[in-house]
Amino acid sequence: MGEKVVLAYSGGLDTSVAVRWLADKGYEVVALTVDLGLDREREEVQGRALAAGAVKFVWRDVKESFLRDYAFKALKAGALYQGHYPLATALSRPLIAKCLVEVAQEEGATAVAHGCTGKGNDQVRFDVSVQALAPHLRIVAPVREWDMDREAELRYAQEKGIPVPLSQGSPYSVDANLWGRSIECGPLEDPWQEPPEEVFLWTAPPSRWAREPIYVEITFHQGVPVALDGKEMGPVELVRRLNELGGEQGVGRIDMVEDRLVGIKTREVYEAPAAVILLTAHEALEQLTLSREQRRFKQRIAQEYAELVYYGLWFTRHRQDLDAYIASTQRFVTGTVRMKLFQGQAVVVGRKSPHSLYDFSLATYEAGDKFDHRASPGFIHIWGLPARVQAQAQGREE
Ligand code: ARG
Repeated sequence: MGEKVVLAYSGGLDTSVAVRWLADKGYEVVALTVDLGLDREREEVQGRALAAGAVKFVWRDVKESFLRDYAFKALKAGALYQGHYPLATALSRPLIAKCLVEVAQEEGATAVAHGCTGKGNDQVRFDVSVQALAPHLRIVAPVREWDMDREAELRYAQEKGIPVPLSQGSPYSVDANLWGRSIECGPLEDPWQEPPEEVFLWTAPPSRWAREPIYVEITFHQGVPVALDGKEMGPVELVRRLNELGGEQGVGRIDMVEDRLVGIKTREVYEAPAAVILLTAHEALEQLTLSREQRRFKQRIAQEYAELVYYGLWFTRHRQDLDAYIASTQRFVTGTVRMKLFQGQAVVVGRKSPHSLYDFSLATYEAGDKFDHRASPGFIHIWGLPARVQAQAQGREE
């Protein structure tokens, strides 16, 4: 009997060919499909894996954990890579790696495998996560090792009788989970070319936007979304619903050029209605409930967190330390945000919290103003002191 390997199996061409390629190398291949909330047909994926030559198929439904333990942590952090990307693909990799390691243990496998190429971020995220969780496991990355382009892969599949998925006609590479869809390749490789409408599956084009805006109220408890329009919901239902509502109004399309960890600039298009709506709403609630200093410092942590996730460093003490800080900041981030979804935008139009720091009697310019205007000159006198001293000693500012 050969060595056992657990392969992260998506059902696409690369991983289907990888099943057979590994089997030809003498491995017994266990195909693992991780369900991150896409409505994929389990039977169909399983059939494809077995037809390609896997000895066993394992299906793991982790969509709830994906949102609770990964995506919502990034939400609480306010993480957007390079200011735009909500990290759907990047967040899924450590969880898939964790599943690979668990199944490897259950199956007595000595190796795990994934279908990443040698020039992307995902190979780094998988490899580093597996190394952190189970350093004794060997990692095989067939696509990184074999020298086949798409044509050669298709020939290989034909020769070996591997069923080719329907999506094979598409020039795009797509990765998707509940937190968002990532699309690259084909015409998108020209950063000057507008994304063809066909790349978008979740978000409506302007011609199909509803004429009336959609309003939705999102309630957070300590930074975590728990209800829509007053109705309590688990994470999967809540995110699904926001993807639908946002999608109807074209919310959550992102078109960017980003810097990969391996040094390549890449053009990627994303659809992430729920993530964009939730990140926007969550930040609005922090505007209300965090102090100026907390907000300023937390913004730096948000950037650190986004980079850490993007760079594949999920299973590190550094992430745990940042999570501890972020959790502490979220103690009073409880309340409700009203969002207006309209014509591609998710706009905050209302916010309230039992822990709000907004004080009407301090803010108002109308009757009832409690702010002591006469105390201001004294405050300004002290505040401006260093500037005056410096001007005196070193000359006035031009
Ligand atoms: N650029 C994104 C990231 O590194 C997505 C990568 C996968 N994209 C894809 N279309 N397969 O996280």
